Formats: sequence, C-alpha cells, structure tokens
Amino acid sequence: MSDDVYRLIGPGGNEMKLPIRTGTVGPNLVDIGALYKTKGVFTYDPGFVSTGSCESDITYIDGEQGILMYRGYPVEQLAANSSFIEVSYLLLHGNLPTSKELEKFERTIRRHTMLNEGMLNFFKGFRYDAHPMAMLSAVVGSMSAYYHSEMDASNPDHRDIFAHRILAKLPTIAAAAYKLNTGQPFIYPRNDLNYCENLLHMLFAVPAEPYEIDEVAAEALDLLFILHADHEQNCSTSTVRMAGSSGANPYSAIAAGIAALWGPAHGGANEAVLKMLEQIGDVSQIKKYVDKAKDKSDPFRLMGFGHRVYKNFDPRATIIRDMCHKILQRLDRKDTPLFDLAQELEQVALKDDYFIEKNLYPNVDFYSGIIYKALGIPTSMFTVMFALGRSVGWAAHWREMIADPTTKIARPRQLYTGPAQRDYAPIEKR
Ligand code: CMC
Repeated sequence: MSDDVYRLIGPGGNEMKLPIRTGTVGPNLVDIGALYKTKGVFTYDPGFVSTGSCESDITYIDGEQGILMYRGYPVEQLAANSSFIEVSYLLLHGNLPTSKELEKFERTIRRHTMLNEGMLNFFKGFRYDAHPMAMLSAVVGSMSAYYHSEMDASNPDHRDIFAHRILAKLPTIAAAAYKLNTGQPFIYPRNDLNYCENLLHMLFAVPAEPYEIDEVAAEALDLLFILHADHEQNCSTSTVRMAGSSGANPYSAIAAGIAALWGPAHGGANEAVLKMLEQIGDVSQIKKYVDKAKDKSDPFRLMGFGHRVYKNFDPRATIIRDMCHKILQRLDRKDTPLFDLAQELEQVALKDDYFIEKNLYPNVDFYSGIIYKALGIPTSMFTVMFALGRSVGWAAHWREMIADPTTKIARPRQLYTGPAQRDYAPIEKR
C-alpha cells in the first residue's frame, strides 16, 4: 500500500480519502473497499473495465506495451526455452524448478492421467454429436463427485493434489470427448509419453494399428499450451475464483471456468475464427466482411480481433503467427489458403481507420485455429485445446485465492432499476 491517497469529493463537497495500492509494476489501484460502509454508495463498472478484483503474484499484462509475464518471466522467453510442464510448475509454485523438482513434478503428472472407470460411463450418456466443451465441463464437474470427501481446501497437500489431477486428467477427458464424436473406442493414456505426445496418442490412436506420434505436432501443441497457460483475471479465471470463493469444490469451480471459456468472446473465438475464415472463403470477399464488422447495425465482428487489455498488440498472436509459418512449412503444406486469407485479412484490418482508432489487433485466437487445423484437430476441439492449456492457470489462481487469508466470498452489488415497492394484487384484479 502506498502513502498516497485518492481524494474523492462527494455531493456537498464531502471529501473521502481512499488508499492507493501499488503493485510491483503496472498502474496503481484505488482501494474502494470502505466506500459503502463510510459513504453509502457503490461503484458502477459493468464488465469490470476499471476494477481489480484481487491481489495476485501469478501473471502480469501490460496492454499498452504488449507485455505478458508469468511470475515475472516474459512469455517470449518461456515460449523459446521452456516446456508446458515446466511453465505449469512455475505458475503453480512461483519459481522455475530445479531438474530434480521438474522430474518429480512431471512424474506426478504422468502418473495421474487415468480416469476412474466409472467416469467413462458419463460419455455413454452424451449424444454422438455433443460439443466437446459441453462434455469437458460436465465431466470435470463430475470430478467433484469423485473427489469430494477427500478434498479439504484448507490443506495445502490437498490443494496440490487437486492441481495435479486437473492438469493430468483433463487431456484424458478431452480425448474421450473427441472419441465419442468420432465413434472410435476410447484410448487409455500412456504414461511413458510426455504431456502432448500422450494427448495426441489418446486423440488419434486406434486399437487396430500402431500409432506414430508426430513430433512436430507435439512440439506445436506444447508451445500453444505455454501461450494459453495463464492470462490473469480473464473471464474464465475470474469465474473459477468467483465460484471457488464460496468454498465450492474446486473441480466444480474449474467446470464453471470451462463453461465461461466456451463463449465466442473468450476462448470460443478460435473456433469462431475458423468458421469466419471459411465463411469469407476468398480474398475478394474480405472488404465485404470488414465493412460488415464496422457496421454498427450488423452484429458481425471480426473474430480473433480486439482485446479488453491489449491495446497495441497481443504478444501471443505474434508468436503464433510465426509459428503458423513454421508449422505449415514443416508439415510441407504448399497450399495454405486459410493462412493466406488470414494474413490478408490482418493486413486489410490493420490499415483500416476503424480498427486503428479502436486499437483492434489480432489476438491469440486469430491464428491458433489454423495451426490446430493443420495438426488435424477438428474445429469443435479448438476451445478444448485452449482449456487444456489454461487449466493450470485456473488451478494456480484457485490455489492462490484459497491460500489468501483476505479472500472473501465474491459478491458484487448492482444498480437496481426494477419497480419500487408495490402491493400484491389478487389475480382477478390484474
Ligand atoms: N470487430 C469489430 N469491432 C470490434 C471488435 C471486433 N472484433 N472488437 C471490438 N470492436 C469494437 C466494438 O464494437 C466497440 O465499438 P464502439 O466503441 O463503437 O462501441 C469497440 O471496438 C470496443 O469493443 P468492446 O466490445 O467494448 O471491447 P471489450 O473490451 O468489451 O471486448 C472483446 C473485447 C475481445 C470481447 C472484443 O474485442 C471482441 O468481441 N472480439 C472478437 C472476439 C474475440 O476475438 N475474442 C477473443 C479474445 S482473446 C482470447 C480470450 O480472451 O479468450
């Protein structure tokens, strides 16, 4: 907390001094916690545009400079040098692991990949075409039924076990959802494979023939998961924190986070981008769609453009665009119509006054779908991939929130605009 105060002058010149909170880096926050108690007013900020909801040590974003850091490490350095498992350790424990710590952590994650057999029965209840995000949320929610009595949130060991289970079992659940969609038999995890190799194995192996892991695909997924691993108080993470703040079972809180991620304004944008590119179809149609996005009477938006925090560029998008080039080259794709279309669309939008004035740049979801598609992952699984990467961020935030003694149940207030008190009228008099 800094010594500075923020002076708020109310009606009648009534002054209130509000403390200012200072973080390690980034803008200060005015602490309005005592405002209602002392002045009887609430603040109004739908969508939390100017509101900080908690203190956090995990991730820092500077939206003006396009900076993203996990525990102080720039995401570019982690993307170039680290692995998703190492980044997961970093997010959960605060520091990069020693080789011994990393080995132990990775072993733990590899050894918790199996699901309780009973959990597989849930998949029998879904229709063949159920959306995998719906299945992921439902089955992760069901983990609260399997791990309820043995989950004591006040016990740090239990919090660790929860984080390990979420990280280790989500790929197995995701792959089971995919197998249901394809009508193929469920493939059990292989603990001799690393995180992404095992995911590919569970997604694409079939019992009838041996499956060869595509190392290019495994490396690409690992990098995408690093980029998705955390993003401070985004919609799904805030949902996890909010649900968890009531003391709810953390697996249910993660299920709520998955549901929030699914929306097209959030993680669902990667699926929406691909559908949009397919709808645009050809460079000759770009102008028409850019005009639609600018037309206020048309609900169409350029999916994969814009961000609440990034007002300059999204550093994840820059890394992913470069990676797109490399992946398509390494997979020896000569014909890359969607990537070519996306690049052209980006160029047109970046030169357009509407997008320039509103600071709308490609975000993480703009190019990720093109990579997933090139790796053979179906469109409906794109947001599931995002969820796998983000699962560790959700777990890290839930742990941080539960361990923080100042945590209170999240309970915003409202501006009531309904009728003032009125009297009940009997039905014959209405
Ligand atoms: N296409 C056209 N216009 C846009 C777009 C877009 N993609 N995004 C924002 N705008 C306009 C918007 O109409 C508004 O105009 P005005 O000021 O005239 O009313 C202005 O830009 C500000 O937009 P906003 O909706 O008030 O901004 P926000 O911070 O509430 O929303 C956003 C951010 C990401 C939801 C929004 O930019 C959007 O809907 N983008 C498309 C969906 C998308 O790509 N989402 C992925 C986000 S990144 C990954 C993640 O978070 O999961």
